[in-house]
Amino acid sequence: MTSHHEKLDDMTIAFVGAGSIAEALIKGLTETGIGHATRLLVVNRHNPARLAYLEAQYDVIAGKDIRQAVVDADIILLCMKPKDIHEALPVIAAHARVDALYISVVAGYTIRSIQEMIACGNPLASTPRIVRTMPNTSCAVGKSATAYAMSDSCTARDRVYVEAILCSVGTSCTVDEHLLNAVTGLSGSGPAYVYYLVEALTLAGMDVGLDEQTSYSLVIQTLYGAAHMLTHTGESPAILRDRVTSPGGTTFAGISTLQQFGFEHAIRQAVVNATKRATELGDHSYPPTPSSK
Ligand SMILES: NC(=O)c1ccc[n+]([C@@H]2O[C@H](COP(=O)([O-])OP(=O)(O)OC[C@H]3O[C@@H](n4cnc5c(N)ncnc54)[C@H](OP(=O)(O)O)[C@@H]3O)[C@@H](O)[C@H]2O)c1
Repeated sequence: MTSHHEKLDDMTIAFVGAGSIAEALIKGLTETGIGHATRLLVVNRHNPARLAYLEAQYDVIAGKDIRQAVVDADIILLCMKPKDIHEALPVIAAHARVDALYISVVAGYTIRSIQEMIACGNPLASTPRIVRTMPNTSCAVGKSATAYAMSDSCTARDRVYVEAILCSVGTSCTVDEHLLNAVTGLSGSGPAYVYYLVEALTLAGMDVGLDEQTSYSLVIQTLYGAAHMLTHTGESPAILRDRVTSPGGTTFAGISTLQQFGFEHAIRQAVVNATKRATELGDHSYPPTPSSK
């Protein structure tokens, strides 16, 4: 897991797509100083108000159209919804430099399908450098757990750039591409599992007599404190749990109940099923078939 900072001052980065993930990355790059606002271009399809907001908020440059945004870009960040990539990518590739580095956050599209869409837009870009990433929703607050996979054509320098960009919104690690579905099932969907746990614990606090607000704030701080213990003590979760679970004590009673109700099994099965679903949804090809649209 990496979280170091490399400056990208002399790189021009074009964001195609100006939604929530693009904003999170722009915010991360500008706030950390890893990217330079005057070298960040952003473009969308038909929402000038959104571009005006991003320009005003982060000082980035709103592109007039896709062509103008990508033409000089060293790095092109694909930040559109999966349904829009077929239309956007061949146009991007037709106007981008052949040596541009493509970084995709688009769920479900393989390096190979991205490569095919690029080649369709520009047959000269026969071995484009492509990075496929899977961030999670916590990138909005700079705390994403992101995994990425790179095409064989990528260089060691590309890795440095990619990690700098991803580390501006959290941590990053590299995996083999086939494992990105597992990442989707684990850390991609992970925030929702944790929110669900918080909901359940808050209700549990109310079951034993606390008011909702008190219960909720105790749960949030418990979660935050436990995460902090894990990252700052260097101890494993099993050791930390063991330390607070004396036989016959209160935590023991609670943990035994979780075990009795199959807590571990439920969590593991949740990740298995989310991974299976990511595999089913991610089976895209290019040109698109009606079912992959
Ligand atoms: N949000 C997350 O936490 C998260 C986490 C992991 C992965 N992702 C992935 O990130 C991608 C974007 O998600 P999002 O939540 O940021 O989506 P979003 O808010 O809906 O934004 C999508 C953006 O793409 C633009 N766009 C679509 N087609 C375009 C085209 N042909 N040319 C230029 N711009 C185009 C849209 O422009 P208009 O508004 O003008 O149509 C919009 O600005 C998705 O593929 C998703 O799988 C998101």
